[in-house]
Order: sequence, then structure tokens, then C-alpha cells
Amino acid sequence: MYFTAQGIHTKQAHKGIPEGRVEEEQGRKGFFGPVSHLIRKQASTRWKTIDGPLKPRMFDLVKADASGKRQRLLFNKDISIYNQWIKPNEAKQLTAFRNADGDSIYFAHIGTGKLLTEYGIFDYRPGDYIVIPKCFGHIFLPDANSQFLLIESKTGSFNEPDRGMVGKNAVYDTAQLVLPNLEELHAYLKKNNLSCIEVDVKHTDQITRFEYEECIFDILGWKGDLFPFKLNMDQLMPLMSHRSHLPPSAHTTFVAPNFVVCSFVPRPIEFDDDALKVPFYHQNIDYDEVLFYHNGDFFSRSNLHSGMMSFHPAGFPHGPHPKAFEKIKGMEFTNEYAVMIDSRYPLERDPSMDTLEVQNYWQSWKS
Ligand SMILES: [Fe+2]
Repeated sequence: MYFTAQGIHTKQAHKGIPEGRVEEEQGRKGFFGPVSHLIRKQASTRWKTIDGPLKPRMFDLVKADASGKRQRLLFNKDISIYNQWIKPNEAKQLTAFRNADGDSIYFAHIGTGKLLTEYGIFDYRPGDYIVIPKCFGHIFLPDANSQFLLIESKTGSFNEPDRGMVGKNAVYDTAQLVLPNLEELHAYLKKNNLSCIEVDVKHTDQITRFEYEECIFDILGWKGDLFPFKLNMDQLMPLMSHRSHLPPSAHTTFVAPNFVVCSFVPRPIEFDDDALKVPFYHQNIDYDEVLFYHNGDFFSRSNLHSGMMSFHPAGFPHGPHPKAFEKIKGMEFTNEYAVMIDSRYPLERDPSMDTLEVQNYWQSWKS
């Protein structure tokens, strides 16, 4: 298709929106495809009622199952998203876990501790994305109760985003990735007299236990380009323009088949006088959007706390809450840490989510 325009429109997206009017983006393929910017009298979030399954939803994961089980939240054929609390374990005989259903990202929300993998050991802390390839044995040893948002990619591995014209070192340099240390693993096991002779393997969401005579962490060395690693949100160098608001896709951290993982971290607020300073209203027509609020001040929404997760299905128009426009005045930096997961195909809600739902979230744009 070709570019055309009618009536009142801007010359540059997200800038120079006429006073008292609202810009709404309608775009295909996430933020990469054909797109139009509509100048409306009022935002599409002014609905009176919403009757049907396409309601925006908010969930409070602070109330999630703390027993240590993975609690599935949202899923489709490509992805499953879980909440998982992991408790400290004093046992000397450990049981490892292998996920044969897919690659995993454990996003560390709360807690610190150690992660033992067959490739070595590393520490974890809040804000860590810990990427564990499919079928890699691992054991978490938390210092205190730790909460993770667990993202499982069932149809392929997690990869770096295409950084296009800003080059391969933008957002994060792969030299920033932290790898587990094999020598320290062996020293840690020996010092603490730990051994692992059991492995629980998850396949088609069923667990099979394997038992061994000797500790499975007996790897003497390894080489290759497939390994566990971690990356903390603090290591991200967010892209921004001081002149106009960049779309969420600028904050992509990992890509997997049919979904992406993006990170919102503190950044300066645009300072051109006519720049839109809050996220633009949009219908992300092709993607379901999940946003997990990790830490900080979530300026574009009200009534939010750390540990909440929103679910905005494709087809649902959304944007900042009314109070965000006031809240951002005088601010020079955002101070929010959040994880976004955008899925190309619709996500289903696990029934266990019902008890976590914040009622009447769909009305929150009115306040
Ligand atoms: Fe969105």
C-alpha cells in the first residue's frame, strides 16, 4: 500500500498532536508493519461497557501459589508463562530439573541465590533474565523465598533481537552476557557436601524422574555456542529519542518463534515541547500483550503495584491512564522496570488465574 492522508493529521508520529485531541496508532505486525495514525476527539479507551471475552485483564501475582509449584498463567502453542516461587532448600541430596518442553527464561522478580547448572554455577538477583536452553539440568538454591516469572518457549530458542541500523552492540552487547562458572560449581558442591542424583524431566507437561548412582554434575569441561546465560535489566542500554516517543519494539530484549520479550527500564523522557511523553494509544492489531510490573514507579497507570501483570488481547485498544498525563509533567526520567511479552497468536488463560484477577480493571481508564 502507499501513504496517504485525509483531514487533520500529524507530519511526524507522536509529535505535534493538536491540543485537546488524541493520536491513536493502528498498526500491523507489532510496530513493524503498515500503520496509520488517527487524530480522534477522544481516546478509544472511553468505553462505557465491554461485553464479551475481549476484556483487558489485570492479575496480582503477589497472591500467586507460593508452594513452589510452577503456576501456569497464560499459554498457547508457542509459549507458556508461569509464576514460580522457589524456597530455600537445606537438603544435601538435590533434585535437578530439565525442561524437555522448551527453552526457559526465569525472570528473577524477588530474591537472591545461586543457580546450579550442568555448565557451571552463577548467582542470581532481581532483574536477572536467566536463559536455560531446553533439556539443560538446573537447580535453584535461593537465599530466601524467590519469585520468578517463567517464560517457556516451546517451538524454538530465545535469540537476540535484530538491531538493524543501530548495530549489533546496541541495547546490550553480547559481551555483557554472564555465563555460569564450571570450576566454581565443583568447588561449591564440594565445600557444601552437595550431590545431585535425581533429575525431574518435564515432557508434555508430565514429570519423569531419573535416578543415578553418582552426582550428575560431573562435567569436566564444555565448548560450544549453546549454553545457559543471564542478563540483568541493569545491563540494558535503552534506545530512546529525545524528540519523539519510540515504540515498545525498541525495547526488545529476546525474540522467540511468534513472541518477543521486551524490557522497560529507566530512561529520559522526550524533551521536545510538542513530543508525546506518555505511551501512545494504539491497537496492536496482531499481538496479544502481557506486561509484568517488576519494580519502580509505573507512571502510565494508576492503582498498580510491583508484581502485577496485565493482559491486553489483540483487538483491544489501549493507552495510558488519564492520570498519566498529569503525572508525567515535570518528570525528566521514567523509573519503571517492566517485562513485556508480545505474542503473535492468542493466549489462553489458565483457570488458576481466576483467583489472581483484579476485578474491574477494564474500568480503570475512567479514573
Ligand atoms: Fe500495547
